[in-house]
Amino acid sequence: MHYQPDRGFQHPVASDITPRAVYEARRDCLRAVALGAAGTALGAWAGRDALASTAAPGKLAPLPGGRSSVSGATTMEKPTPYKDASTYNNFYEFGTDKSDPARYATTLKTKPWTVAIEGEVRKPGTFDIDSLLKLAPMEERIYRLRCVEGWSMVIPWVGWSLSELIKRVEPTGNAKFIQFVTLADTSQMPGLRSSVLEWPYVEGLRMDEAMHPLTLMAFGMYGEALPNQNGAPLRLVVPWKYGFKSSKSIVKIRFLEKQPRTSWEVAIPSEYGFYSNVNPKVDHPRWSQATERRIGEDGLLTKKRPTLMFNGYESQVGQLYAGMDLRKFY
Ligand code: MTE
Repeated sequence: MHYQPDRGFQHPVASDITPRAVYEARRDCLRAVALGAAGTALGAWAGRDALASTAAPGKLAPLPGGRSSVSGATTMEKPTPYKDASTYNNFYEFGTDKSDPARYATTLKTKPWTVAIEGEVRKPGTFDIDSLLKLAPMEERIYRLRCVEGWSMVIPWVGWSLSELIKRVEPTGNAKFIQFVTLADTSQMPGLRSSVLEWPYVEGLRMDEAMHPLTLMAFGMYGEALPNQNGAPLRLVVPWKYGFKSSKSIVKIRFLEKQPRTSWEVAIPSEYGFYSNVNPKVDHPRWSQATERRIGEDGLLTKKRPTLMFNGYESQVGQLYAGMDLRKFY
């Protein structure tokens, strides 16, 4: 595998053998099957229509994923157009305006890239991006992503369950939490000059949350390598939590006994907690969490969608929080 500045990662993947059109047609077909026999004809047609407006431009290296067997890993909701998902971003290392990451993240150098594994594990060490790409079979997961600011998207990610990596590094009995540390390099990231957050951007999960099969280590979206502004070369996606838990451009994963600091909790403790599960019943002091605006569906008359408990993933993850007061542990 090698890297070309204008094409991202170049590595042999299934699409080198399967032409893109065939892969997309197969994906259409899977959607149609999932919609059920009665809706098959309409489903196939609607699926093709959705893909025409959502497809990636084909500028980055292809990175298709197989069908995921993880329960709840694919919503049938229409994916957000690629153009919106790749130009309306939060990545404060490149500025605080939604359009800043797409404009400035061109300076992010994603190769060479390594991820250090530290702390309470029997096998600490450093993985380079090539070995991470091959660590487990790539899957496509179509997840809703809900931002605390009141907007949401539906994104077809490509990656593998974080548990695949965790199992390989063998956590000790003391490992109760995981902290994700992301890149903070002033020569590549103009936003680091601002003190809006403490750098590097850090996030954390409890061990059982990190081990949950829905927790995804993502390397791609829309069948291609991640664009820089979406967290290349690898980022976390935790679909039942607010978007800020999904750390971008990770360089270190620390296994810890104690609950770690997170950037947003440190910056504004009165507004952000460690858990940050999507909860329509607990408003953020500045934004209601009861409804959401789906990016790409804007219009004066477009009704906001009701936000669902755990972002719609309650049947998969609700039991992780049994007995916890979710108003206290927000
Ligand atoms: N990761 C880093 N390193 N820096 C950030 O500023 N922003 C978070 C999260 N991950 C952020 C980050 C926030 S607030 C959101 S909503 C999501 O990334 C947005 O992901 P997206 O741009 O892919 O939609």
